Amino acid sequence: MSIALIILAAGKGTRMESDLPKVLHRIAHAPMLWHAMRAGQALEPARTVVVAGHEAEAVAAAAQEYDPEARVVIQAEQLGTAHAVAQAAPELEGFEGDAIVLYGDTPFISQDTLEAMARARASHDVVVLGFDAADPGRYGRLVTEGDALLRIVEYKDASPEERDITLCNSGVVAADAQTLLTLISEVGNDNAAGEYYLPDIVALARARGLTAGVVHCAEAETLGVNSRAELAAAEAAFQAATRARLLADGVTLHAPETVYLAWDTVIGRDAEIEPNVIFGPGVTIETGARIRAFSHLEGCHVSRGAIVGPFARLRPGAELAEDTHVGNFVEIKNAYLGEGAKANHLTYLGDAEIGEGTNIGAGTITCNYDGVFKHRTTIGRNAFIGSDTMLVAPVTVGDGAMTGSGSVITSDVAPGALALGRAKQVDKPGFATRLFNMLRAKKAKQNKG
Ligand code: UD1
Ligand code: CA
Repeated sequence: MSIALIILAAGKGTRMESDLPKVLHRIAHAPMLWHAMRAGQALEPARTVVVAGHEAEAVAAAAQEYDPEARVVIQAEQLGTAHAVAQAAPELEGFEGDAIVLYGDTPFISQDTLEAMARARASHDVVVLGFDAADPGRYGRLVTEGDALLRIVEYKDASPEERDITLCNSGVVAADAQTLLTLISEVGNDNAAGEYYLPDIVALARARGLTAGVVHCAEAETLGVNSRAELAAAEAAFQAATRARLLADGVTLHAPETVYLAWDTVIGRDAEIEPNVIFGPGVTIETGARIRAFSHLEGCHVSRGAIVGPFARLRPGAELAEDTHVGNFVEIKNAYLGEGAKANHLTYLGDAEIGEGTNIGAGTITCNYDGVFKHRTTIGRNAFIGSDTMLVAPVTVGDGAMTGSGSVITSDVAPGALALGRAKQVDKPGFATRLFNMLRAKKAKQNKG
């Protein structure tokens, strides 16, 4: 069956105290909206419609960055969740299949839960995702009778007895798309908030002889973000869940609570991550690689058997082949290190290609930027770059070549050649002794005076 996702993301999120719309605030480096869109991918939706309103252009751009085929509709005035869904109608014209409504500010609905909702549609016309709330607060309450969901009552409109109900509305709803739109068109705004409530479709469905049911999920999945404090709590929850998943998948984390992961971090089995490692977006670590303490990685790939850190920084475009070693205070950006290549100390490699088996000496720097343009450095296989070499790009060092320590390399080095680009050493016998004597005498005189 075809599925259309409708993601509500028009709200301002006043309590965030922000110029950025709420759904674009990030959890683990991805806008909340992406988390909701990613959860929905489990259903392989034929169509995704994002309802934007507040800062709609920015929200639309983010939606389409995640999924270029996402359709964005505008809800100019936020008149309620049912009114928001109604804006999706033009994009669902003639659509045959189910629609599932998600909230852009509820990022943790699991793929299993959404699959359970899709399955529950076999037994109910309208399926609502509910959860048992430890503190039901201001959530909408689900009024049930046995298996049947009778209606949903918003907190503001609920009687004292209804407020005692702990089974709450997550907001996620599934129904046949055309049925949903018909029900939505019947929703009124005669309630305490004067809003068009999406949850009202349950009672409207039953009035038409349709059935409604509840799928239950853990409260943690329905965690919504309305303030910076809740955003921080959501970040912590995401980190904890992701660490637990990696451990279960066979990744060693020496001190899991000190490792920060991004929404898309991929780490292979038997990889080892030491304490205080930070992952930015776009990192993949292959099986058996070892990331040592205090390293910072983003937009990079580390192959099996590689060792990175401690205190290494891998920036976007860093690609380490198998068994490479990158040591302390080494920064790598947009550079490929071939199999077994080593850069162990105090080095910057940017816009470079390093052949397999090559050793980069301590303090080596690729001078890749002339103030206007970036240039590439290419180093062949099994080369030896002496400590403190400045490689002024564009420049090529051939296979098996060497550079002398302290060289400034401004022109290409042929394969097998030794390049020396430094001043010749001059020795002055006895000079140091004479200089020291003179300086010490001067100091003695000052101390007396
Ligand atoms: C809603 C539910 C409530 C449920 C709770 C769960 C309604 C009327 N109430 O309440 O039963 O327990 O979620 O968190 O649906 N939005 C729009 N356009 C609008 C209004 C809202 O796009 O006109 C979007 C918001 O940006 C947000 C989502 O819909 O992503 C939910 O809206 P919100 O105002 O937070 O609903 P709640 O009052 O929390
Ligand atoms: Ca809310």
